[in-house]
Amino acid sequence: MKKITIAIDGFSSTGKSTIAKQLAKALGYVYVDTGAMYRAVTLYAARHGYVSHEKEDYQALLEALANIELKFEYNDDLGFAEMYLNGENVEQEIRTLAVSKLVSKVAAIKEVRSKLVEMQKEMGKEKGIVMDGRDIGSVVFPEAEFKVFMTASPETRAHRRYKELLDKGEIVTYLEVLQNVRSRDYLDSNRKESPLLLSKDAIEFDNSDMGLKEQFERMYNYALRVIEKQ
Ligand code: DC
Repeated sequence: MKKITIAIDGFSSTGKSTIAKQLAKALGYVYVDTGAMYRAVTLYAARHGYVSHEKEDYQALLEALANIELKFEYNDDLGFAEMYLNGENVEQEIRTLAVSKLVSKVAAIKEVRSKLVEMQKEMGKEKGIVMDGRDIGSVVFPEAEFKVFMTASPETRAHRRYKELLDKGEIVTYLEVLQNVRSRDYLDSNRKESPLLLSKDAIEFDNSDMGLKEQFERMYNYALRVIEKQ
């Protein structure tokens, strides 16, 4: 069967990665979480003092961009690829609230986006890929055969993320997480470079009141119909 490109965009904590992983597994496709790439660059920038709550030194970050090596390595036990930053597994650290609070600043930088978009295009050039992010259907793969735009209410998303962070042992409050969700929605949708947009050819998918099983079945059937038409 002909392979297609599946682009999944949407707000933070809408469950993009959950559905993307499930689709990739069911179709035998590669899954790429582009948020992990922006998070890894942010972690690098934070560790080197190029970005913090108080200040940003974008010039220093841009000069260091060539030293940032990102790689995904598949973990058989987990069933997905983990993020490596200059050879170090940073999968856990990039998911902390500390990184979430800084990532929108770094993701708004044009040169960071160009570097990561180029890598993403390369990863998807053979098709057979499910990629999730904010600009996948609009910038990375405008020609993708199947584009999805995921939404859910900020409160639903904050509850999901809050629970995830607590399960991982982070000490956070629900309000802090809700504030982060709202602020990232705003920054991701209003930035100058590749803002998060609902493209005309994407299907909008609100999963506020939907279970994981129903969500997967709907998406999978939809994807199969698109593939059959190729
Ligand atoms: O999907 P996520 O929450 O892990 O993404 C982290 C941040 O990275 C998000 O706030 C916006 C940014 N991002 C982006 O600008 N473009 C992408 N393709 C993916 C993520």
